Amino acid sequence: MDILSILVLHGPNLNLLGTREPDTYGVQTLNDINRLLEAEAQKLAVRLSCLQSNHEGVLVDAIHGAMGQQQGILINPGAYTHTSVALRDAIAAVNLPVVEVHLSNVYKREAFRHHSYIAPVAVGQISGFGADSYLLGLQGLIRYLRQSNS
Ligand code: DQA
Repeated sequence: MDILSILVLHGPNLNLLGTREPDTYGVQTLNDINRLLEAEAQKLAVRLSCLQSNHEGVLVDAIHGAMGQQQGILINPGAYTHTSVALRDAIAAVNLPVVEVHLSNVYKREAFRHHSYIAPVAVGQISGFGADSYLLGLQGLIRYLRQSNS
């Protein structure tokens, strides 16, 4: 079987991790998280491609670009989780398995964070485990892909 390729997308303001509201999002930087994911990907023998953007259209383009290149998407859509019909439609359009992750437990926070436009088009969602949300999300996505391919 060919090696699995996964696209990792980080949405707006996640470039500021490490200094951004550390009580809520932790002290790890985005580079730290990408390094953790790379190490896990090596263990699980998958290829990762990571991108962060503060721009909705760039994220939409990246989702389109995954078609035919990657087999699944791990995404922390940041605030676009709660606002973006465009991201949701892009995910529905490419028809690739997506796992949504959040560092914080969005359901413990303000009411406007309780709704996700992404969740109904995702395989699943992990929220509240800090950087481990990404690791758990990656593991879940890979298991899902390997089960659906067997
Ligand atoms: C977040 C939660 C969102 O509500 C927020 O807008 C973010 C980060 C998280 O990882 O906990 O930017 O996605």
